[in-house]
Amino acid sequence: MVTRPGPRRGSDSSITINPLFARPGEDRVIDRYRLGADRMLPETAYQVVHDEAMLDGNARLNLATFVTTWMEDPARKLYAETLDKNMIDKDEYPATAAVEERCWRILADLWHAPDPAAAIGCSTVGSSEACMLGGLAFKRRWQEARRKAGKPADRPNLVMSSAVQVVWEKFCNYWDVEARYVPITEEHKTLDGHGLADYVDENTIGVVAIMGVTYTGMYEPITAIAAALDEIQRTTGLDIPIHVDGASGAMIAPFLQAPLEWDFRIDRVHSINTSGHKYGLVYPGLGWVVWRRRDLLPESLVFNVSYLGGDMPTFALNFSRPGAQVLLQYYQFLRLGREGFREVQQASQDVARYLAAGVDAMDAFELWNDGTDIPVFAWRLKDDHTDNWTLYDLSDRLRAKGWQVPAYPMPDNLSDVTVQRVVVRNGLSMDLADLLLDDVRIAVAALDRLTAPLPDRAAPAGFHH
Ligand SMILES: Cc1ncc(COP(=O)(O)O)c(C=O)c1O
Repeated sequence: MVTRPGPRRGSDSSITINPLFARPGEDRVIDRYRLGADRMLPETAYQVVHDEAMLDGNARLNLATFVTTWMEDPARKLYAETLDKNMIDKDEYPATAAVEERCWRILADLWHAPDPAAAIGCSTVGSSEACMLGGLAFKRRWQEARRKAGKPADRPNLVMSSAVQVVWEKFCNYWDVEARYVPITEEHKTLDGHGLADYVDENTIGVVAIMGVTYTGMYEPITAIAAALDEIQRTTGLDIPIHVDGASGAMIAPFLQAPLEWDFRIDRVHSINTSGHKYGLVYPGLGWVVWRRRDLLPESLVFNVSYLGGDMPTFALNFSRPGAQVLLQYYQFLRLGREGFREVQQASQDVARYLAAGVDAMDAFELWNDGTDIPVFAWRLKDDHTDNWTLYDLSDRLRAKGWQVPAYPMPDNLSDVTVQRVVVRNGLSMDLADLLLDDVRIAVAALDRLTAPLPDRAAPAGFHH
């Protein structure tokens, strides 16, 4: 594994403690990469770690991440009170286990499961784990059906857009599934059912459709994808299910685009995931996955743990993990209700659209999309604007002001297109949006004064949206 070296102070491998903080008798110099020989006072250890963490960016100015960076005080209090709870220990924490079940049932209902009581779901550490579980259920069901029919079950494939989040590449890599990417193009900016028949066959375990493509925030039209699969079934007999990766959009669409059909209202949608820690408005460490019916999650993947004298089915990749985030999710459900979620998400979308309009009004740019799906939008530099600078240079300039606004290439097929993206989260006020627009204008004006090109810049390695 490659890790980025942290900021360096003192010599390469040691940290020097300010004599004001070190207590008498304590080491003044500690090794960065080896366990110290002796103890340290709690206050000193606190100060060292606190100071290291201080060098992280300012979360409020981070417009790259989707993940919640602010919760109100009562939620923080609840977090502090419950941070010792282990989600897997359902015997010791039956109340937390019951809240977990309440939460996924609320989601099943929110996502229009025909019979929420017959649905099944669970919490996870994030959408990545939730996507793995959705994909595993597809793979196992497909394998079981193939074996039952006496057919080979050794070459499964999964069909998805070339703009999927990296977790789906990981899924295919880790679980030996062939990844089939339908390339996005200028005409088909998302997976939309076009040409799908060329990608699916009898070995296709399912199609992944994304509500809130990570690169741009756009929704994939799930009804159009389902219609294409209906047509494929009519002509070939193949009945291919959809998993909706709603990491961000599954907590936006129910509130901001309620009439839009993307969820269990579409029969072909077997399962949906979301990140509780994105637009579910909970601190990092929480995802959800829900299946429309219990039988869509193969029994052979479920483990039963004892719970209150009975059996509780569990299906997850992790064993121990924090339970506090699950309680925080329930807090948000109680605190906001439908109307509260709508207001919070609408406020983010208003800011996103305002920012998108501000960027669109600048001569240098054209929008890729405008924030009307999830509160995320992306833009590119107009072809004829300049050869002297790129969006990477703009990203650098904004970074110097504290803003994190990533620039990156689009996926294969469009990789010559560079976009820059803003993710608006709860807490980015109109006021901050105005300050950001001012800083973009100032940066662009400075870059436009260049009389020769800046040195070539490649996309920063390792940016995974
Ligand atoms: C569409 C999509 N799927 C999956 C993920 C992974 O989610 P998590 O970070 O919650 O594991 C992301 C993260 O940005 C995403 O945007």
